[in-house]
Amino acid sequence: MQSLTFTCPDDWHLHVRDDRALNTVVPHSARQFARAIIMPNLKPPITTAAMALAYRRRILEAVPEENHFEPLMTLYLTESTTHDDVRAAAESPYIHAFKLYPAGATTHSDAGVKRLDRIFPILETMQRLDLPLLVHGEKTDPEIDLFDREKAFIDDELTSIIKRFPALRIVFEHATTRDAVQFVTEAAPNIAATITPQHLLYNRNALFEDGIRPHRYCLPILKRETYRKALIAAATGESRKFFLGTDSAPHPQQLKESSCGCAGCYTAHAALELYAELFEKAGALDKLEGFASFYGPDFYRLPRNSGTITLEKRPWQVPAHYPFADQTLIPLKAGECLAWKCIGKSEAPPAS
Ligand code: NCD
Ligand code: ZN
Repeated sequence: MQSLTFTCPDDWHLHVRDDRALNTVVPHSARQFARAIIMPNLKPPITTAAMALAYRRRILEAVPEENHFEPLMTLYLTESTTHDDVRAAAESPYIHAFKLYPAGATTHSDAGVKRLDRIFPILETMQRLDLPLLVHGEKTDPEIDLFDREKAFIDDELTSIIKRFPALRIVFEHATTRDAVQFVTEAAPNIAATITPQHLLYNRNALFEDGIRPHRYCLPILKRETYRKALIAAATGESRKFFLGTDSAPHPQQLKESSCGCAGCYTAHAALELYAELFEKAGALDKLEGFASFYGPDFYRLPRNSGTITLEKRPWQVPAHYPFADQTLIPLKAGECLAWKCIGKSEAPPAS
């Protein structure tokens, strides 16, 4: 049987929600990843170091005993974020970044930033204290076509942020367009991007394959095939600026399959398996370790993991659903067959 062992990977963009929902989703991630950047878009959002530390403890309680898993916390940037909030985050060994959601861009982003210039002083402090900024790169102006929002964010907002704060480390989260790939590739080394499995796997036709497919709906929305190909090329190419971030974003079945369904694909149940299949199809399995295990920690200036992960080429069927607190969670590719199965991590001491 073909097998694959490499340095234990991390997920650089993950939503785990809270309370009892943690018991389903945290073990899925902890089985495959040593660490994950935890998104702060709870309701209410995680805006202070104290909130992040309490949330971190709740996440750790949901980690199975046999796994080491380190949640890397982030804070939600708002127009009320203070310099003291930034300093407290920079001083904490558990907080690794701020997340910028333009107001209205996505799930639970109503507390997000309406006018970028209002947070410039905060970005200045983040740059000085070398705290990375993670951006949901979509301009939310309703006049802009949904499929053009990423490019509009780059042209109208990201470019000016970078001009003003050239040393600020920025992760362009869940890149979905050729424009984003090009921009990040050509930008300075302090600008990087994460890429999700769903944007590597599907183009926008997949949203309407034999009928509407709510479990493939996420934001930024799936894009055209030429853009998917550009993402595959970026993920499997030589650049160290592109790394793994699933954006696994669980929602209860009834909120996805609804007259006004939520955005978010759940992929944590099979994250690495999905990437492995994609990299294999691209003839680039040898590039998976860099993307999944090296470039992320290098960018965040954290040590690479010392343990390993093993996958076997062994077909398995994705469950039709998982329990999710009192509700049901439908994973991406529910009921379908995947080629690779993750056998487990060799447990090395937790990365510091
Ligand atoms: C995310 C969620 O549900 O929290 N949804 C999504 O479609 N990606 C929010 C986000 O990351 O934009
Ligand atoms: Zn996300």
